[in-house]
Amino acid sequence: MSTLIAPSILAADFGNLHRDVHMVNDSQADWFHLDVMDGVFVPNISFGMPVIKSIAQEAKKTLDVHLMIVDPDRYIQTFADLGTDVLTVHYEACTHLHRTIQATKAAGMKAGVALNPHTPVHLLSDIIADLDLVCIMSVNPGFGGQSFIENTYDKVRALRGMINDKGASTLIEIDGGVKDNNAAALVEAGADVLVAGSFVFRSEDPTATISNLKSTTAAVSY
Ligand code: DX5
Ligand code: ZN
Repeated sequence: MSTLIAPSILAADFGNLHRDVHMVNDSQADWFHLDVMDGVFVPNISFGMPVIKSIAQEAKKTLDVHLMIVDPDRYIQTFADLGTDVLTVHYEACTHLHRTIQATKAAGMKAGVALNPHTPVHLLSDIIADLDLVCIMSVNPGFGGQSFIENTYDKVRALRGMINDKGASTLIEIDGGVKDNNAAALVEAGADVLVAGSFVFRSEDPTATISNLKSTTAAVSY
């Protein structure tokens, strides 16, 4: 499978949101990555349902929603109704993670779990076979444009080993500080999906930047 590229709309120009959504539609990107922050789980507030509804009306690619919110169970059906394809909750925000994952799938979505930088991957060993995606945070969640945490490579390799050992088909997504200088190494370590926000939207030619990420990662595999 070729590496999936998921531009993070958090870094888009919200005054020209439809322009940026169409740019992603017309690019080689695979997914839209949508970051929902509640100001409680993370020290920032991003956007919520009305904005996602507007994006969903225009978007022609998979909607990958990353919930950085406490008590995400309250909104599972809401995000399903908005057209979410992949719904990712934080391990650190879920007391009954297994129940949350089952509810996400029952609502017709793929189920993902995100891990903060301090959370070890082995904590997922008893649930990995149930997960469609694990999002390894390579920055502390809450803001775009932060520096990539190098320990991420070890986490990706450990998670790839766990997924292979269990015979699972869980995708590994990397979120935070992804650029052309780490994309290939992340894929070599075992990543399937690369989220990129500021690297794409702050570049001179976001369409070309997406193409370059796609071709850089096409040359490698794990
Ligand atoms: C951070 C978000 C990321 C963010 C990535 O909390 O989850 O998706 O948009 O932004 P960059 O690629 O700029 O680090
Ligand atoms: Zn994210």
